[in-house]
Amino acid sequence: MQVLITGGAGFLGTRLAKALLARGTLTGPDGGQQPISRLTLLDVATPAAIDDPRVRVVTGDISDAAVIADALTPGTTSVFHLAAVVSGQAEADFELGMRINFDATRLILDRARTLGSRPRVVFTSSVAVFGGPLPAQVTDGTVATPQSSYGAQKLMGEILVTDYSRKGYIDGRTLRMPTICVRPGVPNKAASSFASGIIREPLNDQPAVCPVAPETPMWVMSPRKAIEGLIHGHEIDGAALGATRTLNMPGLATSVRDMVGALETVAGASVAARIRWEPDPAVIRIVNSWPGSFDAVRATALGFAADPDFESIVRAHIQDEQKR
Ligand SMILES: NC(=O)c1ccc[n+]([C@@H]2O[C@H](COP(=O)([O-])OP(=O)(O)OC[C@H]3O[C@@H](n4cnc5c(N)ncnc54)[C@H](O)[C@@H]3O)[C@@H](O)[C@H]2O)c1
Repeated sequence: MQVLITGGAGFLGTRLAKALLARGTLTGPDGGQQPISRLTLLDVATPAAIDDPRVRVVTGDISDAAVIADALTPGTTSVFHLAAVVSGQAEADFELGMRINFDATRLILDRARTLGSRPRVVFTSSVAVFGGPLPAQVTDGTVATPQSSYGAQKLMGEILVTDYSRKGYIDGRTLRMPTICVRPGVPNKAASSFASGIIREPLNDQPAVCPVAPETPMWVMSPRKAIEGLIHGHEIDGAALGATRTLNMPGLATSVRDMVGALETVAGASVAARIRWEPDPAVIRIVNSWPGSFDAVRATALGFAADPDFESIVRAHIQDEQKR
């Protein structure tokens, strides 16, 4: 079977590609496990080289119909649509966010529709679809009222995935991902970038700046659990989802204070002391509009799982980065 990952050069896209190649199979249109014969990585950036004959790289912009036609071939049975402009960038550049996060999502779904092969589509949404006055714990029934352009664009993508599924054009599933940390590498333009930076930089002997208050609630997930969740999200039977195609992923409810406490437990007080606390009103406004806790009953019943605690997330990051 042929699989497409948009955003295949990104943080999650790269890890998902490796996990899929190692796994070797996915559920195909007949409901049985089928070997992955081709894995197309589509991105504007060049993905890290993967030496595997099944990998095909398409470099281009997902808002370009010709690029989508090239990448989403008639034989494609599964699409992981991960490419996006992150939250801080979508807020700063409205036109870019709308074009990549919304217009291009519609372009991809419409390409799938016209092919007529009803591929499984896994779309990554975000807790940023929620905002404004919220209950202490967001439930599966809480109405999404985004307070950022990124959140609005993700919510519109969710609605498209649901309607294209209802019409039978795709077999879609949307996963609302918690903030994924610890993200390796360098800071990005996501408002949540600090959540990884305050762990990653101190562990690398670097200073880090925390732009939000210690009591800020956070809903987080490790990269390992995120990749497991994306693959599980593909594998679940569309019939189990019925008309409701969007799932709040289970995450870990924590706070910035507890995250720093876990860093201190794992790596020592001198490492945690490398964090400087410098409030940034723009980041605070966006991050404080996101909920800090969900009950995620439906996704948990469907077999998705959360990390047990933040210490295990820090330890997994150290292990994974040492391997790299
Ligand atoms: N990482 C998180 O904490 C988190 C949380 C919630 C949701 N998500 C969602 O998960 C998905 C993957 O996130 P990530 O952390 O891997 O992000 P990322 O920024 O590392 O990867 C996104 C990729 O999309 C590519 N891209 C951007 N614009 C493009 C365009 N016009 N054409 C082609 N490619 C383009 C980028 O080059 C990048 O490689 C995104 O949709 C994101 O919104 C992530």
